[in-house]
Formats: sequence, structure tokens, C-alpha cells
Amino acid sequence: MDVESSSYNPEPILSIANGDDVLHICKINKNDAWSICDFVTANEDRFLFFPKTREQNLTPDLSKRFVALKEKQFESLEEFLFVLRVNESKKIVGFVYIKELHWDILQGEFGYAIDYSLEGKGITSMLVRELSRYAFETLKLNTLQIIVHKTNIGSVKVAEKCDFVWVKTLKNKFRPKGKDPMDVELYEIYK
Ligand SMILES: CC(C)(COP(=O)(O)OP(=O)(O)OC[C@H]1O[C@@H](n2cnc3c(N)ncnc32)[C@H](O)[C@@H]1OP(=O)(O)O)[C@@H](O)C(=O)NCCC(=O)NCCS
Repeated sequence: MDVESSSYNPEPILSIANGDDVLHICKINKNDAWSICDFVTANEDRFLFFPKTREQNLTPDLSKRFVALKEKQFESLEEFLFVLRVNESKKIVGFVYIKELHWDILQGEFGYAIDYSLEGKGITSMLVRELSRYAFETLKLNTLQIIVHKTNIGSVKVAEKCDFVWVKTLKNKFRPKGKDPMDVELYEIYK
């Protein structure tokens, strides 16, 4: 299906000017199945740190289930999945999770990915900065985390550029299927 011709009109929760473009951050929606499937499959080899999201979007049918689940989780405040669009295009070119929500201590964790064609333009840093403000002011969270493998230079830089501070190494925290567990770095920012 051509997402450009769909009649679905996503309502952004945030829109950010970026040069001549406008970046729209939208809540995941059940109509996003085809577009998220396209995005994930086009970027599949870069999804090492999102094995579940990758597996859940290998086909349009799986993506249909995925978006229905994520929409439900958004509404029940269990996990927030935001998708990125540029200008009037309905094509999804990135996502940001606020996941691992602990409402008792008002804490959540970011996870993000951007289309390979947009990498290195400062866009993810901009999204994380804006969504940190949204998380503190609208969601009323107090602590936000980023957990990253030290070799993922782009992601480490996103954390640092968004003023997250390194807290500690989490030993053997990331357990990719069929591979040895890996240490990852915990970064945090506070309200
Ligand atoms: C990590 C990721 C989200 C970064 O997105 P991005 O939009 O390129 O990030 P930004 O442009 O805001 O980059 C921040 C910095 O990292 C640099 N950078 C981005 N990708 C890089 C890479 N692959 N290698 C080295 N540096 C990189 C940028 O040039 C920028 O540096 P600068 O400020 O000195 O110019 C993107 O590479 C991605 O989607 N990776 C796959 C998914 C992933 O690993 N997510 C993170 C899981 S923790």
C-alpha cells in the first residue's frame, strides 16, 4: 500500500522546525502498520539493539499486530512509541520509545532509531531533547535514561548532546539471542 495516498491524517504531538523542513512527532497509530514495516525492514541491519521491534515488524501482518499493541500500551501509559515524519509525508522515518516506565519512581527509558538516509544530521538529538521536555512537563516523569553499548558512537553522542550524564556500566545487561551478554552504559537526566 502506498502510505502517501492513505486518507489517514496523523496529528503530531510536537512539530519542530529544522531548516526548511518540519519534523512531526506523532503517537503510534493503528494506521501506521505499513509504514512502520517499511521503516523497520529498510533499516533491519541497524536494529541490533531492537531485536524485539525488528522481529515484530518483519511482515505487514506482524506490523498490524505491533501497532495495535503499541497503541494500546500508549493509552494505558505502559509504553510510549512516537514516530517521526517530515513535512507532509506520511512515511515514517524514525521512532522514539519512552519505555521501561516505573510510575512509582517517575522514571522512563529512551530508545530511538532514525532512517539511514537521515543519520548524522542532528535529528535524533533534537527529538530526544524535545521529548525529554515533553516527558518532564507533560508526562511528569523525573528521571529519563538512555542505555547504550559503548561502540554505538551515534547513540552515545545523542545522550551526551542531550545533557544526559553517564551513571554506570550495567554488566551483561544486553543479551542478544545466540550471542554472549554485553555490558552497556547507563546515562540519566533529571527534571
Ligand atoms: C543512534 C542513532 C539513533 C543516531 O541518530 P542520528 O540522528 O544520526 O543522531 P544525531 O545526528 O543527533 O547524532 C549525534 C552525533 O552522533 C554522530 N553520529 C551519528 N551516527 C553515527 C555513527 N554511525 N557513527 C559515528 N557517529 C555518528 C553524529 O554525526 C552526531 O555527531 P556531531 O554532533 O558531532 O555532529 C542512529 O544512528 C540509529 O538509528 N542507529 C540505529 C538504532 C540504534 O542504534 N539506536 C540506539 C539504541 S541505544
